[in-house]
Amino acid sequence: MISKKILVIPGDGIGPEVTAPSIQVLKQIASQFDIQLELTEKLVGGVAYDLTGTPIPDDTLDAAKNSDAILLGAVGGPKWEPLDFSVRPERGLLKLRSELELYANLRPAVIYGDLVNASTLKPEVVDGADLMVVRELTGGIYFGEPRGVELRNGERVGFNTLIYSESEIRRIAKIGFEIAMKRGKILTSIDKANVLESTELWREITTEVGKDFPEVKLGHMYADNAAMQIIRNPKQFDTMVTTNMFGDILSDAAAMMTGSLGMLPSASIGGGNGMYEPVHGSAPDIAGKDKANPLAMILSVGMMLRYSFDLIHADELIKHSVVKTLENYRTKDIMAEGKKLVGCKEMGERVLQSLEKKYN
Ligand code: IPM
Ligand code: MG
Repeated sequence: MISKKILVIPGDGIGPEVTAPSIQVLKQIASQFDIQLELTEKLVGGVAYDLTGTPIPDDTLDAAKNSDAILLGAVGGPKWEPLDFSVRPERGLLKLRSELELYANLRPAVIYGDLVNASTLKPEVVDGADLMVVRELTGGIYFGEPRGVELRNGERVGFNTLIYSESEIRRIAKIGFEIAMKRGKILTSIDKANVLESTELWREITTEVGKDFPEVKLGHMYADNAAMQIIRNPKQFDTMVTTNMFGDILSDAAAMMTGSLGMLPSASIGGGNGMYEPVHGSAPDIAGKDKANPLAMILSVGMMLRYSFDLIHADELIKHSVVKTLENYRTKDIMAEGKKLVGCKEMGERVLQSLEKKYN
């Protein structure tokens, strides 16, 4: 029997609602795969601020460093928007990413089952699309210094710094190529090399790293064109590697081809342990109403099993159960004719049932 320490961070908004069924799914898999789970729950985000005055208390960070993997629901909400930047819920998440050196964020946008009809894009455009966005997660404009808002010549100016070192680019490019090798062996690196020096360097280093991966076909695309191409013809992409901010934007766009942001899981890796979270945010408008789609979080559990514990089969089982569940049941965001509308809780239960059916 293997033993795994998982830190669970439900967070804000719909975070706790989507976390609950995901833990059930994890427990089910653990019992079938003979994994002994040690689950700990800690605070990050607005809820942490309310209780402790900081969006990420030290004991959360310690627990994160001492765990084998982290599952995170979502952070943020309008309630905390007036707060000073330094204590906003999002700072908690960003600190976790950077302290744990989770520099590579994998966001697979895949169409599950007949969800092809749930996309706002035409079925023939999205059918069969399967894109992995590899987003740099601990550098770039998200973390660059100097940053701030200050008074200059009698008016306030806001500024941020887009900065990437060679080594930062090299390590994320390497992950991009490695992931592409396991997929369709086509890597598109996204930059804005025509305007930004930092991404001109990005292009140069990515090309250099590509020499170690002769089997992968490397292409370069400007970020604005990439946004357009994801909507025009997503099937041209296999694996994409890009900066922190372009990745943030393009992964949301890629998510919509799958029908809903509620379907996209993510894995943040690079450091010793991985963190797994749905791409959707805290969705305060539907929080507490049992309307959220738990599938992105459930699929994030699958990514954890795959990338942190090498249990590829367990991830496949979860995906299969999700596809099976979608045949009959839908949350509101992906509702379609002929399907039964269910809430977050029931959706989770249905996936669990489907998973159990596979074994018993
Ligand atoms: C994401 C989110 C975060 C980000 C926010 C909540 C800080 O949008 O994970 O895509 O910008 O990285
Ligand atoms: Mg985002």
